[in-house]
Amino acid sequence: MTKSQQVLAFDVYGTLIDTQALTHELSKLCGDKATFFAKLWREKQVEYSFRRGLMQRYETFEVCTKDALRFVDRHLNCEFTEQQKSQLMKSYEALPAFDDVKESLNILQRSNYQIYAFSNGTTDAIESLLTQADLVHLFDDIISVDAVQSFKPNPAVYQHLLNTTGTKADQTWLISSNPFDVSGAVSTGLKSVWLKRHAEQTFDPWEFQPTVTIETLLDLKDCFD
Ligand code: LAC
Repeated sequence: MTKSQQVLAFDVYGTLIDTQALTHELSKLCGDKATFFAKLWREKQVEYSFRRGLMQRYETFEVCTKDALRFVDRHLNCEFTEQQKSQLMKSYEALPAFDDVKESLNILQRSNYQIYAFSNGTTDAIESLLTQADLVHLFDDIISVDAVQSFKPNPAVYQHLLNTTGTKADQTWLISSNPFDVSGAVSTGLKSVWLKRHAEQTFDPWEFQPTVTIETLLDLKDCFD
């Protein structure tokens, strides 16, 4: 069977992979600060990627993650040792997938869509993460912003996705739980699914709204007819 014309590009962190899954490990190190630690770590990681993009001081997303970890450690006076920080980085490199991911990707693969992982992470980091989560075989390929030396939502990274897949913007869907990623893709002319994983999340009231909003990846199968 030939592949569908439609390209489905999945954001990775927060969409497929649970960035808050280290709360239990963190609680052994910093007790009741753990939930806030995990949340701020993710927020700072993303902020650092925005700032490095704007400043045109690209370093890999792993550097943003590591610097964000050091910031939160300092901010919350946790005083983790170097060994504890490197163990946390190792755990971050092996974060688990959300429960709805594998079944949803299996269904989409059977429907013959072209399926890509599209991330701020480097190709090596994403390949290792998806391999550990037993998901890598469900993707046609991994596309990283690293090739452009910038981060989402720079329009150049969505253009890189289009150039690499060789598809038109209106046949290309970005699926992401991150509002900044969804609006970045829509602003560049792509279609986008916002995965609203938590009821309390609010989408930014800008002119770039999601094409479709869903609450679980299992609803994706009805989105592209
Ligand atoms: C990614 C971040 C934005 O995977 O979640 O690209």
